[in-house]
Amino acid sequence: MRSSPPSSSQPLDGDDASAERVTSAGPAKSDARRAKSRRKLRRRAGATAFLLFGLVATGLLAGLLSPKPQVATADANSAELVAAGKQLYETSCVTCHGLNLEGVPDRGPTLLGVGDASVYFQVSTGRMPAARGEAQVERATEKFSQAQIDQLGAYIQAMGGGPRVMYETDKNGEIERDEKTGLPLLAYASLRGDDLGRGSELFRLNCASCHNFTGRGGALSSGKFAPALTDVNEQQLYTAMLTGPQNMPKFSNRQLSVEEKKDIIGFVRYADTSNPIGGFSLGGFGPASEGVVMWVVGITLIVAGAMWIGSRN
Ligand code: HEC
Ligand code: HEC
Repeated sequence: MRSSPPSSSQPLDGDDASAERVTSAGPAKSDARRAKSRRKLRRRAGATAFLLFGLVATGLLAGLLSPKPQVATADANSAELVAAGKQLYETSCVTCHGLNLEGVPDRGPTLLGVGDASVYFQVSTGRMPAARGEAQVERATEKFSQAQIDQLGAYIQAMGGGPRVMYETDKNGEIERDEKTGLPLLAYASLRGDDLGRGSELFRLNCASCHNFTGRGGALSSGKFAPALTDVNEQQLYTAMLTGPQNMPKFSNRQLSVEEKKDIIGFVRYADTSNPIGGFSLGGFGPASEGVVMWVVGITLIVAGAMWIGSRN
């Protein structure tokens, strides 16, 4: 068995050939041959050690030179989490997504490669588990606890990999954990960037075409719609961008860096929570008051119109 690849053994063979030529001229042939094979062995061992050293050095260098991964990942793939997630999956998801996450025709897509980011987005917004036969699976009250979402995410991540959720990290880049449960802490407030100008600009360029300039949502073709971005938490905004649910495009971290995503998140949360954006706000009481006003005005007009038409006959 040779441990060195062919390219590095090329010069060795050459050396051996010349060594043979020299030694075969000597009188004690068997001694020479033994010495030769010992030399050969030593050289090979030397070459192997050199190669190993090279490999390790290259590995270390690559580790030092390649940029730190931007998305903090937890060792959430621990066997227990995965096993618990598998159980949940098999009771709640398997009918539509298949025994091996391969998907079921006409029921649900494959979940291989969607990552725990997609699981977090879909399950925490209550979209999953879906009810049967919906054209667009809509936001609903969530049916699983955060711990269960972690388990489902760990299982689906372990099976097929994919984009990761963002965890809270400390100064050293270590993932922070809940003191009681030991579960990694998802990032929320720390995902808000503070460059609102850049956030609003990036939102206008990348999101407004569907979600409207004010983030209030809008209709898309074929009866689908982009929902209003109100009451969407930071992690949901992040994972929505990362995974592109349904008709929404994916914005990978190469297309929109984590910093850019954070500024968008900062802008959306700011617009949602502290700034009555666009339009006549009707006292800032939100969509409910607008609805009441539209209803009263609209009904009055319709009734008046009907009376007018009736009075002419
Ligand atoms: C009744 C069928 C049904 C059940 C049950 C169901 N799903 Fe789904 N799932 C769907 C459909 C349909 C879609 C595609 C949704 C869309 O395009 O809006 C989907 C999409 C998803 C996605 C997004 C995939 C992607 O490409 O990013 C994830 C993640 C997911 N489901 C997870 C789950 C999990 C976890 C469960 C169990 C807790 C579950 N689903 C239960 C039907 C189902
Ligand atoms: C091509 C249209 C389109 C674009 C562009 C788009 N989205 Fe979406 N977005 C959608 C659709 C459609 C949904 C609903 C998906 C679903 O229900 O499964 C959605 C859902 C979301 C949600 C989930 C809201 C909820 O109610 O849970 C968030 C958050 C979101 N988008 C953020 C963004 C951000 C931020 C951008 C820009 C970086 C963006 N979207 C760009 C179409 C779009």
